[in-house]
Amino acid sequence: MIDNFRWWQSGVLYQIYPRSFQDSDGDGVGDLRGIIARLPYLRELGVDALWLSPVFPSPMADFGYDISDYTGIDPLFGAMADFDALVAAAHAQGLKVILDLVPNHTSDRHPWFIESRSSRNNPKRDWYIWRDGQGSGPPNNWLSEFGGSAWQFDEASGQYYYHAFLRSQPDLNWRNPDVREAMHEVMRFWLRRGVDGFRVDVMWHLIKDAQFRDDPPNPDFMAGMPPYQELSHIHSTDRPEVQDIVAGLRRVMDEFEDRVLIGEIYLPPEKLTAYYGKNLDGAQLPFNFSLIGTPWTAQSVGDLIDRYEKVLPQGAWPNWVLGNHDRMRLASRIGEDQARLAAMLLLTLRGTPTLYYGDEIGMTQVTIPPDRVRDPWEKNLPGRGLGRDGCRTPMQWDQSRHAGFTNGEPWLPLGDDFARRNVAAETADKTSMLNLYRALLDLRRKRPELAVGSYRRILQDGDLLVYQREHQGRGLIVALNFGSHIIPLPKDLNGQILLSNFMDRLNCPVPIDFTLRGAEGVVILPDSPG
Ligand code: GLC
Repeated sequence: MIDNFRWWQSGVLYQIYPRSFQDSDGDGVGDLRGIIARLPYLRELGVDALWLSPVFPSPMADFGYDISDYTGIDPLFGAMADFDALVAAAHAQGLKVILDLVPNHTSDRHPWFIESRSSRNNPKRDWYIWRDGQGSGPPNNWLSEFGGSAWQFDEASGQYYYHAFLRSQPDLNWRNPDVREAMHEVMRFWLRRGVDGFRVDVMWHLIKDAQFRDDPPNPDFMAGMPPYQELSHIHSTDRPEVQDIVAGLRRVMDEFEDRVLIGEIYLPPEKLTAYYGKNLDGAQLPFNFSLIGTPWTAQSVGDLIDRYEKVLPQGAWPNWVLGNHDRMRLASRIGEDQARLAAMLLLTLRGTPTLYYGDEIGMTQVTIPPDRVRDPWEKNLPGRGLGRDGCRTPMQWDQSRHAGFTNGEPWLPLGDDFARRNVAAETADKTSMLNLYRALLDLRRKRPELAVGSYRRILQDGDLLVYQREHQGRGLIVALNFGSHIIPLPKDLNGQILLSNFMDRLNCPVPIDFTLRGAEGVVILPDSPG
């Protein structure tokens, strides 16, 4: 631990999509035993915590984000004993374990929903959001993120229920205190088993407008955007009351020692910061996804960092994310060269970074043939480029059949570059993306300036962004070239180059007339920490 910083502040998080990380039993789907086998890889990589996307019993309509039992393990992934073994093995290797908590909605096969749906007078009726229709239509105009109305008519009981996602993912009613208590108990169940934290799914969706007002049209909507974007979701999401719910979740975390509450929240920085809570009694890390959607230029990235730093409440800890199981692979979004620059940016910014499995070897978005599409979003709205399968393909470990991921038939096709782009090949190549990630993680671990130091922008000019990280009088300079051409660095920048993302300049003096190659980034230990 550095000074008084917690592990989730100075450390680095790594997201595992369990279906796709490592299969141990040949069914083509990754599992917990597979993850256990790969823990040494993660330790050597140099990350501090794993976050697992859902592993609970589920009909898998949304691949585990539709839960039918919050306190079990889906047999596809293993048994509870495997889970306990994973936590024990991870802890023994100095790795923390973070689970995905999906409190906004359950599967329609969850016993709570089956009861709730059974009749209007069932005691669990109010655990979900049931409303009468208006005329012959749904209660209001709210939309599902996955397309169409968010209301589903239930013939048997003659009312509509609300689902922000699939029809088979009914939203829980968080205004009901019994729902809150039930979910708090779910959290305690896992926290007692030694889980170190939760990433809370769609945190900004948890509470909806009590008056069920229509969402207004989105003035920025343009043709080609997903239909969900036609409205501004000011009544169906991000209600002020959600902060009480978040504070309630945090209180449960605080019954245990040193745990972390992370929120999945797709909101601009100015709105995101509310989720830290009034007196920082909310999420410790409301996920900051703004880098994912920002144009990849020195100016917009530089401005975004300043904008985010400016709105952070006093004492709130920043964080940065570049990819996850819902967004196009980083290397495909910005290109392979810039993905190496992005790695340096992510691991030298102030705040907790989250890595997405496979990005450390530069995995790209895989094109999925139509007959192998699995993602319900793509199935609902085919051909719109919304599909998430392409960023969820099996981890590429080596060049053997199925890339060392499985002995069976993988649930999604592998990237066709796996024979060359894999952990084994990149381990052997001194300048590979993987070795760059390892070097960056190693530097971050050795240099408290990078892990916990302050951030100050020094210069942004054209494609160049230069900033300083400083801790207790020691400073480092990071210079990044977002363009594809050579650019000179300021003359007064003297010192040692600790690392270049090209992996060819390591621990050498800054040359006279130093230039950065296209997409090159360097970390410099300056002669004077000014
Ligand atoms: C979150 C998850 C996504 C899922 C959705 C509904 O955004 O990351 O994968 O489909 O919630 O649970």
